[in-house]
Amino acid sequence: MDGGHALLIICAPSSMNTFRGSFYLGLPEPDRMSAVQNESWGTRVGLILAMAGNAVGLGNFLRFPVQAVNNGGGAFIIPYLVCFLLMGIPLLWIEWSMGRFGGRNGNHSTPFILDTMTKRAFWKYFGVFGIFTNIAVAAYYCYIESWTMSYVWHSIVGTFDGLSQTQVAAFFTSYVDIGHSTTGIPYEAVVFYVLCLGLNTWILSRGLAGVEKAAKIGMPLLILFGVFLALRGLTLGTTGASEEVPTASAWDGLNFLWTPQFESLSNPKVWLAAAGQIFFTLSVGMGTIHCYAAYVKSKDDIALNAVSAGFTNEFVEVVLGSLIVIPIAAGYLGLDWVKENAGFGMAFQTMPFLFEKWGPFLSAMAGVMWFGLLFFAGITSSLAMGTPWMGFMRDEFGWGRIKGALSFGLIVLVLGLPTVIFFQEGVFDEYDYWAGTVALVVFALAETILFSWVFGIDRGWKELLSGSDLRVPTAYKFIIKYITPLLLLLVFLGALFTPQGNEWTAAFQSLFSGGGWTLDNSSIIKTIANAGLHEQLAAATDPAEMTRLQDRLFYTNFARVILTLTFAGLALLVYVAALRRIQNTTSTAA
Ligand code: ALA
Repeated sequence: MDGGHALLIICAPSSMNTFRGSFYLGLPEPDRMSAVQNESWGTRVGLILAMAGNAVGLGNFLRFPVQAVNNGGGAFIIPYLVCFLLMGIPLLWIEWSMGRFGGRNGNHSTPFILDTMTKRAFWKYFGVFGIFTNIAVAAYYCYIESWTMSYVWHSIVGTFDGLSQTQVAAFFTSYVDIGHSTTGIPYEAVVFYVLCLGLNTWILSRGLAGVEKAAKIGMPLLILFGVFLALRGLTLGTTGASEEVPTASAWDGLNFLWTPQFESLSNPKVWLAAAGQIFFTLSVGMGTIHCYAAYVKSKDDIALNAVSAGFTNEFVEVVLGSLIVIPIAAGYLGLDWVKENAGFGMAFQTMPFLFEKWGPFLSAMAGVMWFGLLFFAGITSSLAMGTPWMGFMRDEFGWGRIKGALSFGLIVLVLGLPTVIFFQEGVFDEYDYWAGTVALVVFALAETILFSWVFGIDRGWKELLSGSDLRVPTAYKFIIKYITPLLLLLVFLGALFTPQGNEWTAAFQSLFSGGGWTLDNSSIIKTIANAGLHEQLAAATDPAEMTRLQDRLFYTNFARVILTLTFAGLALLVYVAALRRIQNTTSTAA
């Protein structure tokens, strides 16, 4: 916890709970509710598509296949599905319940949603995560989203026509690399980033109707494009085999992903990766679901809606997400190449080259569909990231949609430009690690404890079932109370104390034989200390490499300062909002 945050918690008046949710800007409760609640989802289909769009994102097509390949293909799938059932579904139900409950009390973002669920003042500062994470993730997420816009454009104008694999990869490197520009600014990347943010801001300024419309257009198109590319991947078979790669077969990719391996069940590394993917892909632990659910009418179903949106996401991820990049790349370059090169960049550095093999027309079409699909996946998620901030500013400070959207766009621009300009120096990775990975687990753990143990599982269960169109299995009451928090705690501890080389069995043997526990550089604790970078720096002899590592160290800390200040600033706003609630109540009472 940063100093500012801790200070705010200590200073926050404890009396504020007494007045929680009572009045708004001097208006009696019913008026406050109508002032903040006059927005709701237009249709149930719109709500489910918006929620599914929030979940379906770049993670489904870029992160999932890479995680699956890097964690043994079929070895990943069982832990992944178990995590979906024991953490994903419970968290979806928890967040939808909290959101609708909060909305009924006039709160549309996590600080005061959490606050209304407990008598303890400090919980609202945990709720800061539900705004912070979205702003910080949007900052780098919109950057990837802007690449997809740019790549749609380049596919249309034929930039990749006739380029070799190395040249297509080099195009991406020069796109994000500052090295090729004399001013140090990657101009094209900045232009597309600003355009992308502008589009997000414009849609957000139209409120829920804008978000709903974007989902209604984006989601069907995304699925259509995905099905086309998946069919192409499926029918590729061994036709991509060539003299250079005689054994290439798209089926190898599919078999690798879909042949379950039960021995992975005892490997915590695979479990941690699976849990991380479930968080990211479902957008749980972020605060967006609470916000969207806060606009659900108080008597409407949430249990079935949550499951519908969750399963739509899983269909897109597990079915479409695994039928595009991996089989197509394996079909042309061979499975060994895929295993060695699986990474985020594959989508941008390799796919345009492979599409070129389909002839001029189909390659342009496939490029537009692939990057268009990624764009729709991205924007339906980034729009969701804007809503908690807008909801908070509207509830607490009366900001309208345009002011809320513009301020979100501006904050994201300021936070995001360092990820664009200092991409190679690791600012992007740092945001992704702290905001897009660690913060999700911390918040998910906190909210599960709050829901099950502070608010109380009986009240929470009643909230979930109220208006439900689904017979929720009673076993989930037990799972939500005991299993989900326990698993979340294990995931968090596992990430905090990851042993050297991710070798858990060896680490426990060493611990029990008195040899101690050696942390891996990827553990949260060692990451905080920048242990990996310091080791590399100590070992470096080449002056250029030393300068690169020193730069990386500087920008890593720079990114952390920005993130900490953002969190502290938001915590301060929550503090001010809490004081305003008290003042308004007092003045109305007088
Ligand atoms: N859930 C979103 C994604 O998968 C953030 O990209």
